[in-house]
Amino acid sequence: MKRLGILLSGRGSNFDAIARNVAAGTIPAEIAIVISNRPEARGLEIARERGLPAVCIPSKGLDRTVYDALLAEELKKRAVDLVCLAGYMRLLSAGFLRDFPGRVLNIHPSLLPSFPGLDAQHQALEHGVKTTGCTVHFVDEYLDAGPIVAQAAVPVLDDDTVDTLSARILEQEHRIYSQAIRAVLGGRLRIQGRRVLGGL
Ligand code: GRF
Repeated sequence: MKRLGILLSGRGSNFDAIARNVAAGTIPAEIAIVISNRPEARGLEIARERGLPAVCIPSKGLDRTVYDALLAEELKKRAVDLVCLAGYMRLLSAGFLRDFPGRVLNIHPSLLPSFPGLDAQHQALEHGVKTTGCTVHFVDEYLDAGPIVAQAAVPVLDDDTVDTLSARILEQEHRIYSQAIRAVLGGRLRIQGRRVLGGL
């Protein structure tokens, strides 16, 4: 059984959706550890309510390289095969990514490469796009930039606010993140340059 490590910083709804699919057997894996860099993250509570191993490793005041070494140590101790960022609000260092080559996924609430970074839904509204969405991608050391595994498109409606648009995107995030994890674990994907081939 493959082992997932989840990194989060906040609400944890993507993690909860992954945990639901793991529990239902639709993701053939177990959640080996949930790590938050923020003690107040709701995602930590969700993990504990679900009886999953969860720890907080506070990042405040720590240099990225030092912090990422602590993270990598915990993930290796738990024999994690695939690291899933689920609202983890920090960039990962090159050193960390060398420890988990091609084994870190992220979900972002836009159709990348449009609107990377913070407040992607606000950026989409401001720009006036008619379609936005979400993207699951492999993580490299740049922000929201690695090879794309899955995307889903979401319409922007005339009366959308950041909240209504975010909620519509989030439904798709919960769906495609689990699909992408399943495909990556299934070993049927291959990365060719920027392209991820093999289908979900
Ligand atoms: C999601 O919109 C995700 O795409 C972004 O951060 C948000 C996390 O939400 N990376 P949650 O903590 O999973 O509810």
